[in-house]
Amino acid sequence: MDIPWWRDAVVYEIYVRSFADASGDGVGDLAGIRQRLPYLAELGVDAIWLTPFYTSPMADGGYDVADYRDVDPLFGTLADFDALVAEAHAHGLRVIVDVVPNHSSDAHAWFQQALRGERRDRYIFRDGDAPPNNWQSTFGGPAWTRLPDGQWYLHLFAPGQPDFDWRNREVHQEFLDVLRFWLDKGVDGFRIDVAMGLYKAEGLPDVPDQSFKAESPIWGRPEVHEVYREWRKLLDSYDGERMAVGEVWTDSAEDLALYVRPDELQQSFNFAWLQAPWSPTAFKQVIDDTLGAVPSATWVLSNHDVVRHRTRYETADPGTGLSRAKAALLMMLALPGSAYLYQGEELGLPEVKELPPEARQDPVFFQSGGELPGRDGCRVPLPWSGDAPPYGFSPPGVDPWLPQPALFRSMSVEAQAGDADSTLEFYRRALTRRRELRGAIPYNLEWLDSPGGALFFTRGELTCAINCGSGPVPLPPHHRVILSSGPLTGNLLPPDTAAWLHTE
Ligand code: GLC
Repeated sequence: MDIPWWRDAVVYEIYVRSFADASGDGVGDLAGIRQRLPYLAELGVDAIWLTPFYTSPMADGGYDVADYRDVDPLFGTLADFDALVAEAHAHGLRVIVDVVPNHSSDAHAWFQQALRGERRDRYIFRDGDAPPNNWQSTFGGPAWTRLPDGQWYLHLFAPGQPDFDWRNREVHQEFLDVLRFWLDKGVDGFRIDVAMGLYKAEGLPDVPDQSFKAESPIWGRPEVHEVYREWRKLLDSYDGERMAVGEVWTDSAEDLALYVRPDELQQSFNFAWLQAPWSPTAFKQVIDDTLGAVPSATWVLSNHDVVRHRTRYETADPGTGLSRAKAALLMMLALPGSAYLYQGEELGLPEVKELPPEARQDPVFFQSGGELPGRDGCRVPLPWSGDAPPYGFSPPGVDPWLPQPALFRSMSVEAQAGDADSTLEFYRRALTRRRELRGAIPYNLEWLDSPGGALFFTRGELTCAINCGSGPVPLPPHHRVILSSGPLTGNLLPPDTAAWLHTE
């Protein structure tokens, strides 16, 4: 049976600003990614997802798009993008780009026109002496900003990110055209930003709270699915199994499943996985719920919006965070479906917590009045090589856009490559073994009886065992150990460790 490429792909998220800076301005760029494609191919991922590199004033790191059909000079040119796609494909890597349909930048030509008092119907404007409702921005503060002429406009995120009015058909046509533009350039898929936010309830009623509830007037309105049916038709009209993955935060796998119905998106991020605590019961619950609800599962532990999982898993005992992060990766890569990795997790990078306030850039930090640290800590530019900042991220002597901590010195690609005990070599081994097993194991998994604190499951000849408890447990029956996330003690699986076992 032919399986589409995305169904079991490992996708590597590139946060473009922080991956590799070839131009020497301290900000990552497309040319920097091109130089590092051999690294990604060797790592063993199947695809890369690029965060927005479009023309933008960078009010939200590029998630505020001023021109959906061009590359910001900070990141390069359209010619750089074309070269990147061609070279990625030559390396056997698919390319997914971000599309940001919920809002544009306030510098977008349509919003500039709206500011001049024309064509406000493409955004959400309302009259009134007070904000039209009680909606709060996801980043903090009111979701409405008032113009000098008295009208208010809606922005679910920063004031520089006005929300489109998707009840206007022109917005549909515009985005179909934007998708065509990038599909014609050869992209293999799209990651859809804020995929459950496009439609707001008629009349814009107040919300009791801001949570992502099914009955919310903001998130997951039924009309949004019409958009993805249109997009799916467009994707299917191209050859090459073009796909889309939605950024969908839901409270249940059933709600998530609505986005991946046969005529909608191929995939949705499964954030329940990264939200699960370090607990076998919690992990098992998410796995069962996911596999029971969605036809094609995805898994993700980290991305550019959340605290890195190594840090999330930390305890008072130093070393626990990394051990757990590696064990969780092994379990994730053994699950049916596709896995999304976030740049730097293959180096075991922690969240950088010690950024000084003056270095911080995330609007979350500013809109919360400094109360929330924001997301800069997972966006610190990658360490590639060398003994001092910028650790090969930028040419020597250049300051990266966020300062890198001294501990990056021992965590760089150069420091880890070739060291069998390093996190990087562990990732390379795990991704290689996963490729070897691809096609040989069935999609479905079966649970095996496991001792308290542990989880064991099999998929054909592969058995995965993880120990989330506090004492060692005996490994399930097997012929040989394929790989483990840490040292095994004879036939015992130590705490915070996972293993892949060959069972036939
Ligand atoms: C998504 C992005 C996030 C961005 C927000 C607004 O959640 O992942 O980084 O700030 O949308 O576009």
